[in-house]
Amino acid sequence: MKKTAIAPSNIAFIKYWGKRDEDLRIPSNDSVSMNLSDATTTTTVEFVQSLKKDEIELADGAFNKNEIARIVSHLDRIRGLANSADRARVVTKNSFPKGTGIASSASGFAALTVAAAGAAGLSLSEKELTILARLGSGSACRSIPDGFVQWSTGETSNESYAWSLFPSDYWDIRDIVVIVHDKAKKISSTEGMRYITTSPYWEQRQHEVGQRIVKIKDALTQKDFSQFGGIAEEDCLSMHAVMMTQSPALVYWNSATMNILQSIIRWREQGLPVYYTLDAGPNVHVLCEGKDEGRLQDEIFGLSAVQSVILNTPAPGAQVHEDHLF
Ligand code: PMV
Repeated sequence: MKKTAIAPSNIAFIKYWGKRDEDLRIPSNDSVSMNLSDATTTTTVEFVQSLKKDEIELADGAFNKNEIARIVSHLDRIRGLANSADRARVVTKNSFPKGTGIASSASGFAALTVAAAGAAGLSLSEKELTILARLGSGSACRSIPDGFVQWSTGETSNESYAWSLFPSDYWDIRDIVVIVHDKAKKISSTEGMRYITTSPYWEQRQHEVGQRIVKIKDALTQKDFSQFGGIAEEDCLSMHAVMMTQSPALVYWNSATMNILQSIIRWREQGLPVYYTLDAGPNVHVLCEGKDEGRLQDEIFGLSAVQSVILNTPAPGAQVHEDHLF
């Protein structure tokens, strides 16, 4: 059977940085995110009995050896569940150009999970799909449910899953991804997370993060944008403080990043409700309400540090798609 799925990337407002169990990718703390409408991956999977090995292709680019190995082991997991030995043909395509610094592992493993599970004839619940996606790439589990999503830590694999807090049409907010640097990062999140406990601020972050989960859910419920943006910034700075004080230190920001953060602070002082968050990279996710998007875009395009932008609204989670890539 051939199946295709489309899945969004997501941006975390309360971040996942650190694992309780590395093999099972169980995070140290809960996280809260939003799916991104304009950063998606589409993947078609077909299991074919006559194939000798998995054939994996990235349209408009190429996977490296490690990426292929990670995809094959995810296919192995799905073959295990379906009791099948058939190899797969996989074609995958990102909506955002490779090399924009946008992590494709969340959208990629979410799309692969839904397409491959369907192609293998498995019928899994949304919760089961999030657990399976998590084993491929942690943050991919948050790209399965609709809109605004929480992912829980847990003692066991079955306890660490993701669910929708609010649907994608719940709140008209924007994430404008401002791209200032387009090279792949030197140290992956998986690698970086291995050294979290070398940071003296790691334990402090663990004490605070539970409270921030409560507060951000409260801000979402109230649709209180300034509370929401303030907590997202706080958590982003907390995660980057841990990263910067790990050994070896991970400093993802560059001068263009700082230029944009300082501009955001200035615009806010001038009365524009705008906030920021960043993942493991220098590109800035600029958060605003839909009504302020036009004004903010004018300001952003006025900055010389900006290479390009991706404008996102809240989006549904991974879905089966009728048009195949092959
Ligand atoms: O899922 P990974 O291994 O790519 O980790 C993602 C970690 C951050 O993007 C830095 C934070 C997050 O919660 O998305």
